[in-house]
Amino acid sequence: MSQLEVNITGKSKNYPIFILNNSLSELKNLIFNRIENHNYIIVFSEKVYKLYSKILDFPKDKIFILKDGENQKNIKNYQKIMNFVLSKKLNRQDFIISIGGGVVGDLTGFVASTYMRGINLIQVPTTLLSFVDSSVGGKTAINTKYGKNLVGSFYQPESVFININFLKTLDEKQYKSGLGEILKYAFIEKNCSDFENLNLIAYLNENFEKILKRDILILLELVEYCIKLKKYVVENDEKESDLRRILNFGHTYAHAIETFTKYKKYTHGHAVVCGIYFIFDFAYKTKLIDKEYFYLAKDLLEKFSYEKSCHININKLINLIKSDKKGSDEGIYLVIPESYANCAIKKYSFDEIKNIIGE
Ligand SMILES: NC(=O)c1ccc[n+]([C@@H]2O[C@H](COP(=O)([O-])OP(=O)(O)OC[C@H]3O[C@@H](n4cnc5c(N)ncnc54)[C@H](O)[C@@H]3O)[C@@H](O)[C@H]2O)c1
Repeated sequence: MSQLEVNITGKSKNYPIFILNNSLSELKNLIFNRIENHNYIIVFSEKVYKLYSKILDFPKDKIFILKDGENQKNIKNYQKIMNFVLSKKLNRQDFIISIGGGVVGDLTGFVASTYMRGINLIQVPTTLLSFVDSSVGGKTAINTKYGKNLVGSFYQPESVFININFLKTLDEKQYKSGLGEILKYAFIEKNCSDFENLNLIAYLNENFEKILKRDILILLELVEYCIKLKKYVVENDEKESDLRRILNFGHTYAHAIETFTKYKKYTHGHAVVCGIYFIFDFAYKTKLIDKEYFYLAKDLLEKFSYEKSCHININKLINLIKSDKKGSDEGIYLVIPESYANCAIKKYSFDEIKNIIGE
């Protein structure tokens, strides 16, 4: 087991992230030791419940089962879970536990942040994406008909338990979605650290076959390292006023194609990979990066064999980018590659973007 501590400025307590490779049957006791004799409820992803309820063995009366899918991250389920918590009469020293991917984690986190103005939250992520991204950093959210993640809060968990063995049942599409976010970290590695780098680009190049075969030891190292990078960013900018924007690398284009295809064609991480291709083309066209780095990046992405086809008319793309909540009327900040494993955040007007893409 390894353990990382997240230290957010101004918060009285650090919180631990446990990275585990032991039997999932031990998870219950680890969590019970953590919560001592406090009361708790668990929100489970339906699929994860079906796969793991026997081995995890939590009492049924403590469990709320949430159906799967991005559309479940909504206000109705927020109310249902909130009523479940209220019916159990939890107090602020008690715990809400989330077990599932980012959908369950974001929704449960939002409930926890608003129940009695904040109750202890334990995140137990079960997808690769939620290991390296959504369970760390304290963003919680629900979707509305006006858009994704528009209602939410910044709320740090009390602890996070990551058990790598959950990955054994994750389907290929979801696994590669998580890899998409890991590829993102490779190109912003220098922005996200003041410690000695692993050189993630080289690491992914060397180990891609093992990673695609889900070699547990490589995954343990990779997950821990990506969490270290995210931890550095959120410790230095919890509420996305500055540095945290770097994590949006690849995301402007990703959000546009996700909206364009109504969240049906691409998983989030796959859309991010399309966004990384897009922004490398953009950076190369504007001569921010040289040919060598451009092809090095493309070669790495190719090794993970994502389907790339997404054709959007330029005007449509610009309109979608304009409606992204991170934009303004004059233009948008793009996280753009500048040198090896390093990005800059630059503002572009929509006309500039159109001219550059159109070349
Ligand atoms: N809070 C943040 O900082 C943050 C960051 C990135 C993404 N997100 C959010 O995370 C969500 C996406 O998360 P996700 O990619 O984990 O998707 P998800 O939660 O929808 O899970 C994907 C699918 O995998 C299944 N699954 C989960 N664990 C499994 C396992 N161990 N074995 C088999 N199947 C399993 C789920 O049931 C679901 O069908 C989005 O809503 C996104 O907005 C939040």
